[in-house]
Amino acid sequence: MARCRKCRKKADIFIPHHRLPLCDAHFKEWFEEYLERTIKKFKMFPKTAKVLVAISGGKDSLALWQALTNLGFDTEGVFIDLGIEDFSIISRRVSENFAENIGKTLHVVSLKKETGISIPDLKARTQKYCSLCGSIKRYLLNRFARLNKFDVIVTGHNLDDEASSLLGNTINWHLKYLARKYPVLPEGNGFVKKAKPLCRFTSFEIKEYARRQNIEFLEERCPLSPEATRLVYAEIMDELEKRMPGTKIRFYMDYLRKVYPIFNERVEEFLEKPLTTCEFCGEPSVSSPCFVCKLKAEAKA
Ligand code: FES
Ligand code: ZN
Ligand code: ZN
Repeated sequence: MARCRKCRKKADIFIPHHRLPLCDAHFKEWFEEYLERTIKKFKMFPKTAKVLVAISGGKDSLALWQALTNLGFDTEGVFIDLGIEDFSIISRRVSENFAENIGKTLHVVSLKKETGISIPDLKARTQKYCSLCGSIKRYLLNRFARLNKFDVIVTGHNLDDEASSLLGNTINWHLKYLARKYPVLPEGNGFVKKAKPLCRFTSFEIKEYARRQNIEFLEERCPLSPEATRLVYAEIMDELEKRMPGTKIRFYMDYLRKVYPIFNERVEEFLEKPLTTCEFCGEPSVSSPCFVCKLKAEAKA
């Protein structure tokens, strides 16, 4: 094994993206420094911001919360309980244990309590439950952050997620997503600012950080999500990366630098309908009542 680039001791991890051999202590230092540099590079949020971390119980969100805590950011977590039986119970327990270990507050928002329905109820009604689930999570996160006056919502999306969804959106020319595919989205029109501080980290790097910080995280993915197409794009990106190392970061960063500004200039054109405010819940939406208030009304009927 090579020597650590920083202290010349025996390295015990090699980070292919950066061609960087590091020892355990310097890997932790590198991870946190690089996270802070990413936050600054994209002007995500200042040290004084009140940060809400969206927690799922998986490695990405917990590693992000741990690293932000180690860096001294002012954070609280929020867990959305989707009511997916054992999966939600276990991921909630893992998240609560973690919050207790780092001495931080974890809020729990229950989908069933908020709307009268759970994801399994939704699955019984529509095949589109998985994409609806994504929209509901974004809705609940935004609502919680807005009502509780957080400055920014951060999520654990990593480079692998971002590169494969960029590939999927490009292949299908989903311009409205491409025009908003940036690791920080500003606040405005009722939306709280959103950021993805792990967007330049690979899944491998995050897993290593989580493991070395002794974080107990849940490996299982949601048992209800079919994810078939998303997995295809992820596998293709992995294959490209294997054959041409550095492809993921280049594809993603070049998009942000060279293509995103062109699409973003015309973002309004790509939205299907203009935004308004839901007169029932006050959230930004393309219709009033918004889709969540409609679901609530249906659940009561
Ligand atoms: Fe939304 Fe599984 S997490 S359907
Ligand atoms: Zn070292
Ligand atoms: Zn509404």
